[in-house]
Amino acid sequence: MKPWTPSSWRNCPIRQVPTYPDSAKLNQAETQLAKYPPLVFAGEARELRRQFSLVTEGKAFLLQGGDCAESFAEFSANNIRDTFKVLLQMAVVLTFAGGCPVVKVGRMAGQFAKPRSADTEVLDGIELPSYRGDIINGNDFTAESRTPDPERMLMAYHQSAATLNLVRAFATGGLADLHKVHQWNLNFVEQSPLGERYQHLANRIDETLAFMAACGLEVSSVPQLKETAFYTSHEALLLPYEEALTRQDSLTGNWYDCSAHMLWIGDRTRQPDGAHVEFLRGVHNPIGIKAGPSTDPNELLRLLDILNPDNEAGRINVIVRMGADKVADHLPGLLQAIKREGRKVLWSSDPMHGNTVKASSGFKTRAVERILQEVKAFFQIHKAEGTYAGGVHFEMTGKNVTECIGGAYQITEQQLGDRYHTFCDPRLNADQALELAFLISESLKEARR
Ligand code: TRP
Ligand code: MN
Repeated sequence: MKPWTPSSWRNCPIRQVPTYPDSAKLNQAETQLAKYPPLVFAGEARELRRQFSLVTEGKAFLLQGGDCAESFAEFSANNIRDTFKVLLQMAVVLTFAGGCPVVKVGRMAGQFAKPRSADTEVLDGIELPSYRGDIINGNDFTAESRTPDPERMLMAYHQSAATLNLVRAFATGGLADLHKVHQWNLNFVEQSPLGERYQHLANRIDETLAFMAACGLEVSSVPQLKETAFYTSHEALLLPYEEALTRQDSLTGNWYDCSAHMLWIGDRTRQPDGAHVEFLRGVHNPIGIKAGPSTDPNELLRLLDILNPDNEAGRINVIVRMGADKVADHLPGLLQAIKREGRKVLWSSDPMHGNTVKASSGFKTRAVERILQEVKAFFQIHKAEGTYAGGVHFEMTGKNVTECIGGAYQITEQQLGDRYHTFCDPRLNADQALELAFLISESLKEARR
């Protein structure tokens, strides 16, 4: 294999790249970005790798979630706080009801770039570049907005820095304290059946803390109860941005992509000889690989040869996104091949992307029932194969949206238009996310028995 450098991907065939009309402006933005401080520290990415190795061994569970795509327009403290609260709620449900430590990873502080099935979009006879996410171009259907603008990378960097700053403060500054477990319930959830179920669990946690305090344990000052570790992740799609934030760690001499703790490679850009695989092979972060129904076991093994040649536990998370009706046909073959070859893989389930449908009203949607079906099948298949169902990957939001159908409130196709705010794929709202966490906690508890 040829030597790796942060820019060696430039010599490989690449998919899903924007065409920037002004290359001088692009160079300028890249140079600027390369001078900015890293967003995460290499030591944190190493710690996440260690956490992932525990999940791989069946000693913890991975919860990854957040927006399909972040946007400049929806950037606000309240949105970040509410998504963070829902993730805390899901995590505490899985930890308490599932009886298992949970590794928390947000799809946030950098999840801006989107792969598209077509390079252009035609509307009323006018053809313009497709919208590729706020880090590349604008969603408005005008030539100006759709032209890729490198300055957007700098804006995405600043938004990511501010987001990360806030979630770090939340994670260690008091909001994530288990004594605040009641306060994570969002107002609009409180009155719902899920809100009540959560209230009940929160009461039991309160009781447990009070009991331990009564026994003489100083629960109010134990850092394990007051703080949590929260990590960030996004799809490593826009390689000029990722390259500019890739730095050599002074402690180990290894390279890390310091735009996030974890990066994943999409189902559309995982060609073994392609630019995205080339880039990710050289950085030492934990790496996700999305695996759809077309993933061939031998192809996956080949990717593992390239991305994890030393077969280290914690390096690779395969994120399975087959669809509820396909997972039983395609997953067992992958699990068997990996087991046969003795590869160390953290398996998680993305039950969102294989279950996207177009409602008759034209809205893209997903049924909560289907999502649950895929997760349940994921657990059952792992049980049958003797492998560990290590985690889940959701697109969700703390906002009270109507984007996915079903759930405790039984959102119908007709209601999708009420509060459909997503810039990309339909997300679970707080109620639906919480409902899934409770159901998954049951599977998790059973699997661990
Ligand atoms: N520190 C533990 C953990 O992160 C316990 C904990 C503290 C926790 N705050 C939390 C768990 C919020 C879930 C959610 O797991
Ligand atoms: Mn998506």
